[in-house]
Amino acid sequence: MKKLIIVPTYNEKDNIDKIAPKVLEQDDLIDILIVDDNSPDGTGELADEMARDNSRIKVLHRKGKLGLGSAYVAGFNYGIEHKYDLIFEMDADFSHDPKYIPELIKASEEYNLVLGSRWVKGGGVEGWPWYRYTASWGANLAARLLLSLKPKDITSGFRCYHREVLEGINLHGIISSGYAFQEELIYRTQKAGFSIGEIPITFVDRKEGQSKMTKKEIITSSKAIIKLFMHRRGVGQIVKFGIIGATGTAIDFGILNILAVVFKVNVYLSASISFIVAATNNFYWNKRWTFRGAANNKKMHLQFVQYLIVAGIGFSLNLVILRICVPAFSSAFKLENSAPLVVNLSKVVSTLLVMTWNFLGSKKWVFKG
Ligand code: GDD
Ligand code: MN
Repeated sequence: MKKLIIVPTYNEKDNIDKIAPKVLEQDDLIDILIVDDNSPDGTGELADEMARDNSRIKVLHRKGKLGLGSAYVAGFNYGIEHKYDLIFEMDADFSHDPKYIPELIKASEEYNLVLGSRWVKGGGVEGWPWYRYTASWGANLAARLLLSLKPKDITSGFRCYHREVLEGINLHGIISSGYAFQEELIYRTQKAGFSIGEIPITFVDRKEGQSKMTKKEIITSSKAIIKLFMHRRGVGQIVKFGIIGATGTAIDFGILNILAVVFKVNVYLSASISFIVAATNNFYWNKRWTFRGAANNKKMHLQFVQYLIVAGIGFSLNLVILRICVPAFSSAFKLENSAPLVVNLSKVVSTLLVMTWNFLGSKKWVFKG
């Protein structure tokens, strides 16, 4: 099994010559590929010297700081071209202890991709202030939820891929270049049906040099996550449900205003009528459009009954929220219960909550086969 450890570098001259021998001694079939972005501190020249003395060390030079993600893509292409069986990602700064390499190799017998993970039992971080710890953990959780990713440490930069994974996930289509790159690769790997395993590692904060993680990086990465999220199947469903919800809401607000404001019908009765009309409208269009083709094996009348139950609970929820909001807003603004501001503001609050409930009920129950 030929193994390639890719180490991207930008200003790592104090680390690179120390980490390389430690990596090579882990296994006889390991080569190192240093991908340097023309580091101003001379890391690239040092890497060339190392490569002259040791044929197991390879170097790729790029014109300038083009980002961690594209550095890895360049390295992956090299690994694919030269038919390495296992291709690794690893930092130069000793945050990733080379002693874990044999464990990653062992686990790769079972998984297509293995992550060195800080957030599984036995893993952790050493030397991070609490805010960096919290930020990393939170960003990780948010991205996991948005993209439904199964692994615990999706930003980990210590990994072992089988070459087949990198050949199978279309490296050219990657949209993120910085740190979000790590998440995007997991997203693609999971979507392509490859298995992903994790082994616990202790990530040690760097002692030499500086982290390249900047505020700008964090913003770019968050944007990339949102872009990926928008590409997902199922997001279209939320958008459709939202559009139908908006038309239903317009009907709801319209009828409520006509009854309660113009005709001074009791506000709760008005809200009940408008809600029922809007709910029927929403069911019809969601069946036709949002969840079209879903749960076709289910009898239509059963679906309708289930929908009425969901909507009925939503409707009660709506009344309860109005019952709380209307008096609260009317006393807060010193206005009548039927004042347009009181009625509509209350309705906004209840609509948001009830629509969330309705979406989940529709998706997970009514239109689930
Ligand atoms: N060639 C190249 N180009 N290398 C880069 C670039 C770049 O633009 N930016 C960073 N590197 C190299 C660094 O020299 C180092 O070897 C490695 O990539 C990681 O960079 P650090 O700046 O040390 O990253 P970090 O410690 O903040 O982030 C680490 O943890 C993150 C999760 O918390 C990395 O492992 C990330 O991949 C990981 O997402
Ligand atoms: Mn680092």
